[in-house]
Amino acid sequence: MLKVNPHYEKLPGSYLFAEIARRVKEYGQEHPDAQLIRLGIGDVTRPLAPAVVEAMEKAAREMGRAETFRGYGPDYGYDFLIQAILDNDYQGLGIQADEVFVSDGAKCDVANVQELFSDDAVVAVTDPVYPVYVDSNAMAGRAGSYAQDRWDRLCYLPCTAENGFVPPLPDRPVDVIYLCYPNNPTGTVLTKEQLKPFVDYAKANGAIIVYDAAYKAFITSGAPRSIYEVEGAKDVAIECCSYSKTAGFTGTRCGFMVIPHGVKGIGGQGQPVELNAMWKRRMGSKFNGVSYPIQRAAEAVYSKDGWAQCMENIRYYLRNAQVIREGLEKAGYTVFGGVDAPYIWMKTPEGMGSWDFFDLLLNRYHVVGTPGAGFGPCGEGYLRLTAFNTLEKTQEAVERIVHG
Ligand code: MLT
Repeated sequence: MLKVNPHYEKLPGSYLFAEIARRVKEYGQEHPDAQLIRLGIGDVTRPLAPAVVEAMEKAAREMGRAETFRGYGPDYGYDFLIQAILDNDYQGLGIQADEVFVSDGAKCDVANVQELFSDDAVVAVTDPVYPVYVDSNAMAGRAGSYAQDRWDRLCYLPCTAENGFVPPLPDRPVDVIYLCYPNNPTGTVLTKEQLKPFVDYAKANGAIIVYDAAYKAFITSGAPRSIYEVEGAKDVAIECCSYSKTAGFTGTRCGFMVIPHGVKGIGGQGQPVELNAMWKRRMGSKFNGVSYPIQRAAEAVYSKDGWAQCMENIRYYLRNAQVIREGLEKAGYTVFGGVDAPYIWMKTPEGMGSWDFFDLLLNRYHVVGTPGAGFGPCGEGYLRLTAFNTLEKTQEAVERIVHG
């Protein structure tokens, strides 16, 4: 009989957001009259921008005419979208067209990129962390064994209120460091000066950085929108970006990954190997590209109207974030994030466990959050709220939490 991948057996429970969805569904079935407000998973609620829809419709019509029909697209993305990415996301940063790979979203990219690492590569993650980095490495056997909320082969970089949520450098040699800024789940950002030591560490130790910039559209301060703003990063960093949160593509699916030619690992004969070439090889074998109408839709995000409409939505969500932050702070809660990000990281009251607080919010106030402990050991004692619901529901949720 088939021997299954033994590493799956080590995974604790289900994927965090699947577990929350299960609990919320169960609660909803038992309490059909409860008016639940969902501030849990970071799923957008604003509709697609009109300019994006128009481009998608036009491209769909092209697909219906013999003269303009297209079959398989390029594995790495259409030139028109790659050029728009270079002109808008990477102007002046020296990224080349063949260093950009269009994909169906950042989640898949950050989960799949670990296929390029050796089985015994040592991985560092911030704690708390977006669970996909951990789960994907655990499934590949790179995280070791799981006991007492920790994987024994992962190097955790604790991000706490005490260190201002600035991760320390790894205290032992690692090969890969996953960073996500603006951060999911804490909603905090790092300055260029705070990122530079990670680039220097990677250079000095032959490590690489996987930089998840999915929330960069929310930056209102001077924080960098790309790791490539940091000197030297093109030699050590891969960057993942997404239209999910920038342009409401959570259900539409499109993102991209940048792998500069300078990012290298060591091959079997001790020779340097470009991760860019490896990813091209992988994409050729495992991917047939994102559909033409969706890539046209993504291109339209960068049009004058498209960008203005998308940024209007971002401002809407940032206003929600402000409502949550200020409302909870006024009521005496300690909160972080929510200025450069759609996430608010709130301290649970009176040291309550984060799953207990999750249950309390669900049962008493019918508000769904995400327990901090689901993001790692340092998330215990915190709960994450998202700013992606409507303004009215966000105000109502804060009102319920604050006044009961
Ligand atoms: C989250 O809630 O952390 C995100 O929505 C998850 C994701 O983008 O996959």
